[in-house]
Amino acid sequence: MSKFYLTTAIDYVNASPHIGHAMEKILADTISRYKRLKGEEVLFLAGTDEHSLKNVRAAEKEKITVKELVDKYAGKFYGLKEILNLSFDDFIRTTEKRHLLGVQKLWSACQNDIYKKSYSGLYCVDCEEFYKERELINGLCPEHKTKPELIKEENYFFRLSKYQTQLKKFIEKDEVKIIPETRKNEVLSFINSGLEDICISRSSKRASGWGIDVPNDKSQKIWVWFDALSNYINALGYGENSEKFNDWWQKNKNKLHIVGKDILRFHAVYWPAILLSANLSLPKQIFAHGFIKVNGQKMSKSLGNVIHPYELVEKYGTDAVRYFLLAEFPSVEDGDFTYEKLENKYNADLANGIGNLFERIFAMAISYKYNYDDSDDYDSEIKDFQEKTEVVYAEKMNNHQLYEAAITIFSFAKKLDQYINAHEPWRLIKSRHPKGVGTPTEASEDKNPEVEKILATLIFGVEKIILWLKPFMPSKMEQAEKYLKNLNSQSGKLNLFPRLNS
Ligand code: MSP
Repeated sequence: MSKFYLTTAIDYVNASPHIGHAMEKILADTISRYKRLKGEEVLFLAGTDEHSLKNVRAAEKEKITVKELVDKYAGKFYGLKEILNLSFDDFIRTTEKRHLLGVQKLWSACQNDIYKKSYSGLYCVDCEEFYKERELINGLCPEHKTKPELIKEENYFFRLSKYQTQLKKFIEKDEVKIIPETRKNEVLSFINSGLEDICISRSSKRASGWGIDVPNDKSQKIWVWFDALSNYINALGYGENSEKFNDWWQKNKNKLHIVGKDILRFHAVYWPAILLSANLSLPKQIFAHGFIKVNGQKMSKSLGNVIHPYELVEKYGTDAVRYFLLAEFPSVEDGDFTYEKLENKYNADLANGIGNLFERIFAMAISYKYNYDDSDDYDSEIKDFQEKTEVVYAEKMNNHQLYEAAITIFSFAKKLDQYINAHEPWRLIKSRHPKGVGTPTEASEDKNPEVEKILATLIFGVEKIILWLKPFMPSKMEQAEKYLKNLNSQSGKLNLFPRLNS
């Protein structure tokens, strides 16, 4: 069985999760579920990034200790597992022992490329990154629009410049494949502009004592990005020399990092360089998704427009939220959230679309007393269309194009609708039971081969849609599957996606 290792970014825990965090986790979850359904052995990792300076400052504001703060919010991020039905296999917190061991081991493994120097630079705490004067916009951080802090210190540096040529080659040749192509080009132009060595520690004083010590130098804490990036191998037991690390990282070709476009540089440049320095294997793919805005604006506490997944799920249910975040816009692009868009998408695709289609087909099958396991004689018109759809669906899913995969599924659903309208099976069912649909008396005795074939074809189509949509909406599709298996004994409607009335 082939192995597939998939990770999401580990989230900062200075506040509760918002729908941007949720979207990334749902994206990764859907890919994981698809791979598992294909029979691959999947290891899906999520976690929290806890040594950020932001936490120190947030804890001061909330008048609690940093440890209390990170425990509180890490719990909320872990809680997404239940409310979003995430299937991650492991969840790593960077305050765990296994992580600390790995970070320090990795530092030591990079020792030949680490040196100390005095310098001064402009640091954005929200990005946890230094900026050059020319990268700022009107003296402000381009991401957060805040004034960076001037730092003058003696710190450890990592010889990133040494890896410029090697990194360029790996990325150009897709040995580390960056998806989408436009992001790959951005990374290449960043590399081509010349890589400078990066600062990878800060004084314990500046870190307020929060973070992981540099081995053999307690006066310095390891820079939070060096610390955080290594979570991907620490969760596999890198720090403990585990066999799992060898199997899932060193020997495994299928390793995918899913991250937002804002942190691609860390994953596509710094992380591979650190791995090269430590003589470790590289990730195979890095998928950069876009950002979700709210009413066209960036989510922010100060604007008061942050949408929390807990509230959204409470109102619309897990699968409706999952579906919206995956199928409203392509993941590689930026998208926009409004309640109106969510409700429109739900009503159009789920209530009136799939929900209605399933209901129509099930009602006919029940009224005919169709025996679910009876036949595999399908109409070639639908069978051929299904085979073509299957190919496109697989291609889209394998390229992590979930929005496009959903469109493919819906075009098949539309085809089934047209097929029903063209064949009008209810007429045949009715003519056999003149008293009307739903009151057959001798169903098993006078089977109509034409109706049998139409219903078999439709049920076959429904089964395919359920299977294709399962990674997107696991619990709704399981519910539909169960209903279908017991079709003959159903008394009520399935009512999978009740219409929302605004
Ligand atoms: N802690 C770092 C990641 C370290 S990975 C070794 C971090 N944390 S974060 O909490 O700021 O972001 C976590 C993930 O959520 C990132 O991939 C980021 O791009 C993503 N998102 C944050 N806001 C987002 C949106 N509004 N929309 C979509 N994803 C966004 O960065």
